[in-house]
Amino acid sequence: MKEIKDIVKSLTLEEKASLCQGSSFWETKEIKEKGIPAILMTDGPHGLRKESEEKDQYGMNLSLPATCFPTASSIANSWNEDLIWRVGEALGKECIAENVSILLGPGVNIKRSPLCGRNFEYFSEDPYLSSHMAKSQILGIQSMGIGASLKHFAVNNQETQRMTVDAKVDERTLREIYLASFETAIKIAKPWTIMAAYNKVNGEYCCEHSHLLNEILRDEWQYDGVVLSDWGATNNQIVGIQNGFDLRMPFNGDYYTKVLIEAVETGKLAECVLDKTVTRILTLVKKCIKNELTATFSKEEHHQLAVEAAIESAVLLKNEHSTLPITRNTKIAIIGRLAQHIRYQGGGSSHVIPSKYKTLLNVLEDDYPDVEYTYSPGYRLKQDVDDSQYISEALIAAETVDAVLFCLGLPNTWESEGLDRKHLEIPKNQQHLLKQLSALNKPIICLLFSGSPVEMPWLGNVESLLYFSTAGQGMSEAAWKLVFGERNPSGKLAETFPISLSHTPTSLTFPEKEQANYAEGIYVGYRYYDKKKISTLFDFGFGLSYTSWEYQNLNISQSCLDFTKEESLIVSVDVTNTGSRAGREIVQLYVSKEEPKVHRPIKELKGFKKVFCLPGETKTVTFILDRRSFAYYEEKIHDWYVEDGNYLIMIGKSVRDIVQQEILKINNNPLPVMFSPQSTVGEIREHPAASEVLKAVFSKMMPPKKTENKTVNDITDEENFTDKAMAYDSMAEAMPLIKISDMTAGLVTIEAIYQIVEQLNQAVMKSQRN
Ligand code: BGC
Repeated sequence: MKEIKDIVKSLTLEEKASLCQGSSFWETKEIKEKGIPAILMTDGPHGLRKESEEKDQYGMNLSLPATCFPTASSIANSWNEDLIWRVGEALGKECIAENVSILLGPGVNIKRSPLCGRNFEYFSEDPYLSSHMAKSQILGIQSMGIGASLKHFAVNNQETQRMTVDAKVDERTLREIYLASFETAIKIAKPWTIMAAYNKVNGEYCCEHSHLLNEILRDEWQYDGVVLSDWGATNNQIVGIQNGFDLRMPFNGDYYTKVLIEAVETGKLAECVLDKTVTRILTLVKKCIKNELTATFSKEEHHQLAVEAAIESAVLLKNEHSTLPITRNTKIAIIGRLAQHIRYQGGGSSHVIPSKYKTLLNVLEDDYPDVEYTYSPGYRLKQDVDDSQYISEALIAAETVDAVLFCLGLPNTWESEGLDRKHLEIPKNQQHLLKQLSALNKPIICLLFSGSPVEMPWLGNVESLLYFSTAGQGMSEAAWKLVFGERNPSGKLAETFPISLSHTPTSLTFPEKEQANYAEGIYVGYRYYDKKKISTLFDFGFGLSYTSWEYQNLNISQSCLDFTKEESLIVSVDVTNTGSRAGREIVQLYVSKEEPKVHRPIKELKGFKKVFCLPGETKTVTFILDRRSFAYYEEKIHDWYVEDGNYLIMIGKSVRDIVQQEILKINNNPLPVMFSPQSTVGEIREHPAASEVLKAVFSKMMPPKKTENKTVNDITDEENFTDKAMAYDSMAEAMPLIKISDMTAGLVTIEAIYQIVEQLNQAVMKSQRN
């Protein structure tokens, strides 16, 4: 391709407008005469969904077989950035082989409620973990010269009315939770495209959002890639393009091309603004064709990577009496339809036709011919009704074995794009059967397949619980390797399992239809459970292992940090495998502010690392914390701000199992504030220099104290006066300065108040200069 600016110059208005939308369901526009080829995109995010040759206009046809890796909700539990990078690289290779230039993923929307039907496609309830996993996946994909598409930007957290719902969210929550999930991935991995979501945020559609696209994405984060629409998400593309949006997908006729042409001709859209969009689209096209990319890969190797990813993503949630692992000579009754119809991905646009696939039973037959087992379906999957014949077969089978392996979880149709769950239960027929099985007093090992949390009133009836989420085509092989102890579980939950739906932060309202009010603010996931001191079923970051771990020697590089000098903190901690099996441990670092002046979560994840240790081995894990690790978004200054004072640096096995902690003192400039007559006494007192000025003003207002010849009455008056003064003082906290004039019946004049404000601001400015 020629120089982009030369191509743009050579294009007619019609050609430019036509480049701003697709030319088919999956392709961009080709203009042969100008040397512009079309590029092809496909879903994403955990496998390729390239439609077969007989493609239809709705993009509904079956896709070509491809490796189905664990979905985001599953691989997030691995907390392994290197692993997800390798998955990204493999996805990139498969794209090259199928001539696909852009893979539509990953998705980083925050799990605001466990009910969201698409949560299996998203990583976490925590923005730090989510953004870091996405960053590594994008870097892996793009290392192969294939573009990623980070989606769905932004605040797309429910499927109900997903195309029209208006998410009402305050700026701090937007920045700290919903945008933070995108921010690191965008700034570090620079995805070639970003997919703007269907919904509105605070009244504006995402594809035309001035604040999200123009002010934050383009200006603040300096993103210069292509912003494309989710499929059918564009409404007013003229406004969109003015605000930094680029490409309408998919193609739906010439109508919108004509709209853009007319907009330029009538002066509604400046041609130079359209040129910027066209330049970004052509830059993307050029990136996609710059090399004659070739990649050879072995399907089997990718399948093995899918197995590895599934192993690392599985979370051991319960293991009483070390029931797991079992030996191969344990006689087992495998019960549950899900052993045959394994649930390894969710429904909707991310659904992949796997390149290879085995049920739990197939794997047992092929790889463990010596294992003695029976299989009974136990329950129906398509209807939630008890089947008495299945039940009695299962009970008979369970009676004569050493252990029951019960496969349970959600049917395919319960978790999908386009719908939200209504409750967190697993089907009743599975629960009924489990209850009857538990009466047999056999050890019950459960394998749980669900893309998001479920309630577990039945947990007390089982010895062991191994959670897979939706772990891709390698899940069955992974399951047996873990069950027989060839591998050690090392996943930890990227999302809290609440005891009940009624405990979740949004339980009273989710999902709302026209307007979703994000009234819980920053208190999403563990931030909420921690603050409300709500017991959970399993905490964020929790996961057991077949070995045991000990933490020692937490060390912070300094006990006092000065952010006026742009310092950073190095944290290290020793982790020892104290058990008898090799294993992997996920070390989690949380930061907590002591006595914060604004409301803040009790603690927040600011670092994680996964380490491998042989039995008895110790590894030192190191983290670097920067300014942002301690900051909250301060709306008063429209920026991130670090409050000074004491912080706890916490190392945890999970968010609620903190095993080491150290205190750090931080010095930072006070908030750059300007006071007005409406500023309250309390606000002024928060600023040390201003507080001094106020103290001096107030002391002048006090009547002079008698020092000599005090009578008893004088002393009582003095005491009364002090009491009154103290009461006034606490009332004054919330009082705007200007009201002091009223409260002193004009003794302090309005003019005097303005002079005090002046003195306060001068004192603040002086202190900031020093
Ligand atoms: C989904 C996107 C997907 C697109 C193309 C939309 O319905 O929200 O995630 O990439 O379809 O299939």
